[in-house]
Amino acid sequence: MKEELEKIKINTLKEIASSSSIDEIESIRVRALGRKGELTAILRGLSKLSHEERSETGKLSNEIKAALEEAIEKRKSEMENAAVEAMIHGDRIDLSLNSPDSTIAKKQGHIHPISQIQYELEDIFTSMGFEVLDGPEPELEYYNFEALNIPKHHPARDMQDTFWTEDGNLLRTHTSAIQIRGMEKKTPPFKIMAPGRVFRYESTDASHENTFYQVEGMMVDKDISVANLIYVMKELLRQIFRQDVKVRLRPGYFPFVEPGFELDINCLICGGKGCSVCKQSGWVELLPCGLVHPNVLRFGNIDPDKWSGFAFGLGLNRLVMMRYGITDIRHFLSGDIRFLNQF
Ligand code: DAH
Repeated sequence: MKEELEKIKINTLKEIASSSSIDEIESIRVRALGRKGELTAILRGLSKLSHEERSETGKLSNEIKAALEEAIEKRKSEMENAAVEAMIHGDRIDLSLNSPDSTIAKKQGHIHPISQIQYELEDIFTSMGFEVLDGPEPELEYYNFEALNIPKHHPARDMQDTFWTEDGNLLRTHTSAIQIRGMEKKTPPFKIMAPGRVFRYESTDASHENTFYQVEGMMVDKDISVANLIYVMKELLRQIFRQDVKVRLRPGYFPFVEPGFELDINCLICGGKGCSVCKQSGWVELLPCGLVHPNVLRFGNIDPDKWSGFAFGLGLNRLVMMRYGITDIRHFLSGDIRFLNQF
């Protein structure tokens, strides 16, 4: 009996050691230790033995049973670990490798040149203490015209024909609408800037689009003068163009500022000598601006006897065109990948 038990132990341990799958191990377990297994059969036969033999054999078979169970568990967990390891190594992704299809890498997108300049401007303005505001593209007539001192039937409305909705609202023609929304939200003194997309009902050509981008700026404080305006404009342009820029102010008419100006910069393409970009004049019109009209301050619930301000509107398309020498504004929304890939 003892020998038989030892034989079962040795054979089963061998089988366990050479087993190669969880299923195989399981069938070994059933054969040796299962209800009808070899060891169980011996244990069942114990009753036929003498008392002494019984306790000796019983003890031995329990020891063997424990040893086999332990060996089985050990082998099983070895296999499970190996399976996990194999899975980890098998699924490993080597991020340092190029895609076998190298066109995938080329298809990765990038930020549109208008957005690039917008983000730059946001950085420049926030560094000067301006807060960035947002406003809606579909706008109320009140914010786009009325509160900017452009009442119904005012001829200035003709310059900014737009798209109207059936219920009497419009797509904003300029970011100036955010001046009023900004004044409603803030109490002076404050400095705000507001980038955004604007719309005009226009026939398109090389310098006209129905959809383009502007940044509005406004500062309201005590005793704001044209000197403050010029300083901020020059500092802004110096940072955008990364050089000192010569500017000149001409009178310009916008109902929401008084006085109003067109701020021109000395042409950066030809240095002022005259070229096709500046139409041989040496100057490029870039920044309409002025001191905020008292009526506009009143519309924004600000007392014009106590506070004053300047405002400006910067065309982002024009700025990008100057920077890169782009000659047709229609490229921006063309979606032409040959254009976009250059930035
Ligand atoms: N909103 C004007 C336009 O789109 C530009 C402008 C002019 C903005 C003078 C201003 C300003 O803030 O002071 O034509």
